Amino acid sequence: MIKKCLFPAAGYGTRFLPATKAMPKEMLPILTKPLIQYGVEEAKDAGCDIMAIVTGRGKRAIEDHFDISYELEYQIKGTSKEDLLHQIRELIDNCTFTYTRQKEMKGLGDAIYKGKALLGEDSAFAVILADDLCVNPKGDGILKQMVQVFEKYKCSVIAIMEVDESDTNKYGIISGQEIEENIFRVTDMVEKPEVSKAPTNLAIIGRYILTPDIFDIIKYTKPGKNGEVQITDALLTQAKEGRVIAYKFDGLRFDCGNVDGFVEATNYFYKQIK
Ligand code: UTP
Repeated sequence: MIKKCLFPAAGYGTRFLPATKAMPKEMLPILTKPLIQYGVEEAKDAGCDIMAIVTGRGKRAIEDHFDISYELEYQIKGTSKEDLLHQIRELIDNCTFTYTRQKEMKGLGDAIYKGKALLGEDSAFAVILADDLCVNPKGDGILKQMVQVFEKYKCSVIAIMEVDESDTNKYGIISGQEIEENIFRVTDMVEKPEVSKAPTNLAIIGRYILTPDIFDIIKYTKPGKNGEVQITDALLTQAKEGRVIAYKFDGLRFDCGNVDGFVEATNYFYKQIK
């Protein structure tokens, strides 16, 4: 069972300036719910109850969100508005939230490494990038599907999707053998390759299950693309030993780290309630 989920949330979110000047990108709402709450709900639905969040300066609102707000709750007690806090109360009551800070933005690999102090090294854990909003209207959530894959293969699992060939330079791209329908054993991965050099159009999105030896691997992974410690580079070490499975998930993914994806997600969720 995967009980712990890590949320790297230290990024500046520069594509959403000025909105993210004083507010964390992860708190931007799709309709009335902040992005990170969608992620925490997905993790809980997959069986996690420890939510470890890597934050940075200016991210205090995330901690306040996953805490009781006595004054507010007292004010709306007994009114119809009380229901609006029902979902978040469920999470607060049933999950443990822990936090650490990534002091400098040194890349996703480094942010995950910072999570070691919160997660320990004794079990595999999930990672959700809250700005990748994933839903499966037809069944199990994306992380829940990945947990099932992990239980079978007992190694790191990464979520992938097919992207347009012209977009391969925006993602980590994998290659490997399809060993079951939608399940690949990864043999190679490259971070944001030039379009002409991308080995496939199978792109890594913001959902991972990582075995804890990844911490030691990250420790010795040199900064790669953009001078940042890339999780893709660390995962390649595991992949070379046949220990990474890529899973083409069932469902939808919205890239809410950019304005187009954010608007698309907003329209999608709005249609669900109309
Ligand atoms: P992004 O590449 O989207 O970067 O990070 P960003 O800073 O959040 O956004 P832009 O590009 O400036 O608009 C992907 C995920 O990895 C986390 C981010 O918080 C985001 O969830 N991250 C990235 C870290 O936590 N630390 C890092 O050093 C880098």
